Amino acid sequence: MIHPDALDTRAREILRRNDRGCYTIPTSGLYPYQWNWDSAFAALGFAEFDLKRAWTELHTLMAGQWDNGMVPHIQFHEANPGYFPGPEVWGCEGLGPVASSGISQPPVAASIAWKLFRKDPEAGRDHIRALVPRFIRWHRWFMDWRTENGAVCVTHPWESGRDNAPDWDGPMAAIDPVGVGAYSRRDTTHVDPHMRPTKYDYDRYIWLVQLGRRLNWDEAALQRENPFRVADPTMTFILLRACRDLAEMAAEAGHGTAEIEGWVRTLETGARTLWNARIGAYDARDMRSGAFAGSISNASFLCWYGGLGNARMEAHLRRVLEAARFGVPSFDPEGARFDANRYWRGPVWAIMNTLIGTGLSDAGLDALADRVRAATRALIAQNGFAEYFNPFTGAPAGGGAFTWTAAVWLGWASPGKEE
Ligand code: GLC
Repeated sequence: MIHPDALDTRAREILRRNDRGCYTIPTSGLYPYQWNWDSAFAALGFAEFDLKRAWTELHTLMAGQWDNGMVPHIQFHEANPGYFPGPEVWGCEGLGPVASSGISQPPVAASIAWKLFRKDPEAGRDHIRALVPRFIRWHRWFMDWRTENGAVCVTHPWESGRDNAPDWDGPMAAIDPVGVGAYSRRDTTHVDPHMRPTKYDYDRYIWLVQLGRRLNWDEAALQRENPFRVADPTMTFILLRACRDLAEMAAEAGHGTAEIEGWVRTLETGARTLWNARIGAYDARDMRSGAFAGSISNASFLCWYGGLGNARMEAHLRRVLEAARFGVPSFDPEGARFDANRYWRGPVWAIMNTLIGTGLSDAGLDALADRVRAATRALIAQNGFAEYFNPFTGAPAGGGAFTWTAAVWLGWASPGKEE
């Protein structure tokens, strides 16, 4: 076990190393561009030692906003042949100010901006004045184009941030990736293929990108034609929380809040439609078939983060924390589709532990929050700053020297953060 001070130093080094001046890459090689929610987490980490740099990160992220309000999941600031699918595959030229993908990602950025502001309100005032209108436009885009009965839908598994989660298995099986053509993956040249999504999944990911491109990323057309439209607990709970935080931030920045408060009420109703009574848990729901996924995932446990936790979820949480040693696995370890090493089908992700732990402490469940935090601390102290980890052994998986793992260490898991 490495001394916590040395870990703080190492975490800062990782952020500095992945810093490209005004944005941060998740890790070199595997992810050489700016990813949306990774970038917001990077700001959370920078805020511990360079608040100015943290604000810059959020400004760069939001400067990539499209005319329609969407903030893309990847911004391709510099060409990099080591990554697939790059800008030439997405075909989004002219839709936004920066070369980008055509889908979004979980909107944690407003909540992180609100945290930055509270660290130093004087220094933050001009920043929130500039950013609040952009956050409002982004959140409105979700409300206008992506809600079904108030729950937020994803139109591609990558949009959820949980790429190959079992939540998508049903709607993915309904896709016949005909005509996808030949392509060459780059992720499996950086990382062991057993830790990555399968070819079956990848064909469908690319097919969905090709569909979006064919429709010129027009949301109305996608709403009609995309077979993949899944109400997602990640998006719904995170947007709900982000709107609660945005309402406070907007008030602070001198904006009206009525519209945002309306979104909060809609999303609260929507989140309740994700309650799957059969499994007694929040779940993903395929809006094309109406079917629930039957998934208790780490996104289900974002319910406290969204302000909608309950005793049934608490019982599930206690059960999965007993089964795993390092926090909340991405899928129920008792579930048939659980896979301890494959990405979002079992491994533990430090960022998800952070969001879940934050929600628990906000809900006053301090003992549970402490337990998730202590598990995350032990995980990183023993295994370093990997992309994700085996939930039983803690074995590091995926990419190394990972920005968001370093960031949540600094911003939440380090002993230095103990209140
Ligand atoms: C993977 C993850 C996603 C993350 C990205 C960059 O695609 O599933 O959540 O944003 O990598 O780290």
